[in-house]
Amino acid sequence: MGDTLIAHYIEEISGLVSTRLRTIFPVEWEIPVNLQESMQYSLMAGGKRLRPLLVIAAAESLGGSREAALPVACAVEMVHTYSLIHDDLPAMDDDDFRRGKPTNHKVFGEAMAILGGDGLLTHAFYSVVEANRKHGVPAEAVLSIVEELSQFAGPSGMVGGQAADMEGEQGLTNLEQLQYIHKHKTGDLIVFCLKAGGWIAGATAAQLEALETYGRNIGMAFQIQDDILDLVGDESKLGKKTQSDVKQEKVTYPYFIGLDASRAEMEKLTEEAKQVVSTGLISEPSRLLQIADYLLRRDH
Ligand code: IPE
Ligand code: IPE
Ligand code: MG
Ligand code: MG
Ligand code: MG
Repeated sequence: MGDTLIAHYIEEISGLVSTRLRTIFPVEWEIPVNLQESMQYSLMAGGKRLRPLLVIAAAESLGGSREAALPVACAVEMVHTYSLIHDDLPAMDDDDFRRGKPTNHKVFGEAMAILGGDGLLTHAFYSVVEANRKHGVPAEAVLSIVEELSQFAGPSGMVGGQAADMEGEQGLTNLEQLQYIHKHKTGDLIVFCLKAGGWIAGATAAQLEALETYGRNIGMAFQIQDDILDLVGDESKLGKKTQSDVKQEKVTYPYFIGLDASRAEMEKLTEEAKQVVSTGLISEPSRLLQIADYLLRRDH
């Protein structure tokens, strides 16, 4: 019952976000055709839209408006998509498949892949501002969102995590350093999503903190599952090659503690996430609870 309901909600939000992402630039802007195509190719390649889902679900958990949350939901998908394009480059994880298709640099070449990523990152901030320009989200809230997107996606956040990931080495990096990598490369953008949804809905400081803790826990669980699926997942479901971490000799959760303990850790983090939004502070927590369970069981 819960499963069908949440699957329906996820599909609905994903459809809404994908439709909006089809035209992200004002029609009168002049953009080189190849650059435009590189950005659209990866945006439309079929991502799960998890991060936009979290922005909207967080806003709605506090009675916020879906329409007002949509520009920020799209912004975070642009940042996430740029991070994947760059993550797959030969200088980084050197992967050939993503979202069931050849990676961006395989189709458009490395220069256009780098620039497509740059374009998506830059345009994300334009999209955030639309929350105010088009939907009347208070400018103060939008300022906080811009500030936090810079922080959580930047050098102290996702980019920092990616840098640490690049420097990680089996045999040298320890579990604590892996936790730093996962917290930042993946967890921070997920925390941002929850808090951004909170800002849009006019959350109190205590509500923002609960959303942040929820995001921290599901963010870590999400990356542990990503590590697990790299080992034992199904390529046709994942849309990307498995064993990429093995090939790149990356440190991962299963590498340190094995598959069973990694799964147990995911379950513990999911329970903690559900706890923190179940205290009564969040008025409508049901979607967030269902999403946490859904992610625990995901196979792609
Ligand atoms: C993959 O993210 C990269 C990580 C941070 C683990 P997703 O698994 O959400 O990828 P898409 O968006 O569905 O392609
Ligand atoms: C990617 O982590 C994290 C970011 C892109 C910020 P991974 O390298 O584990 O993601 P996949 O497995 O390639 O999707
Ligand atoms: Mg990587
Ligand atoms: Mg990778
Ligand atoms: Mg991975």
